[in-house]
Amino acid sequence: MVQRTLSILKPDATDRNITGEINSMIEAAGFRIVAQKRILITLDQARKFYEVHKERPFYGDLCAFLSSAPSVVQVLEKENAVDDYRTLMGTTNPASAEEGTIRKKFALSIDKNSVHGSDAPENAAIEIRFFFSETEIVG
Ligand code: CMP
Repeated sequence: MVQRTLSILKPDATDRNITGEINSMIEAAGFRIVAQKRILITLDQARKFYEVHKERPFYGDLCAFLSSAPSVVQVLEKENAVDDYRTLMGTTNPASAEEGTIRKKFALSIDKNSVHGSDAPENAAIEIRFFFSETEIVG
């Protein structure tokens, strides 16, 4: 089934000017980028976006990092997009990421791990709505 997932190219990726290289990996893996914009996520938006992690010790640093520099937010479309994008990203901690994954190639640390992807279809719908209106998504 064709699915959509929410992807964020995080501040460590915009900072190193590697968003094009990451997009090349995304497209080579068969995803269509059906919406995309470069934005500065505010601290309030970051707190809301990552609310599920609010009890975790890394929540404060995570939100500060996401709002520290521009991000590229995007909607990716593909069969089985949610799981396939998580496979393409690699593990959250790049120390254990597999060869050929985005995080293996580009991530600097578990915090500066270059990309975010939705973890389930129902969360993808919520996360896409958080950043995009329906008219901004052109399949
Ligand atoms: P992301 O997939 O964007 O989801 C939450 C982020 O929290 C995660 O990527 C990591 O960058 C960050 N993070 C920092 N420490 C941890 C941790 N111990 N476990 C999970 N995520 C962490």
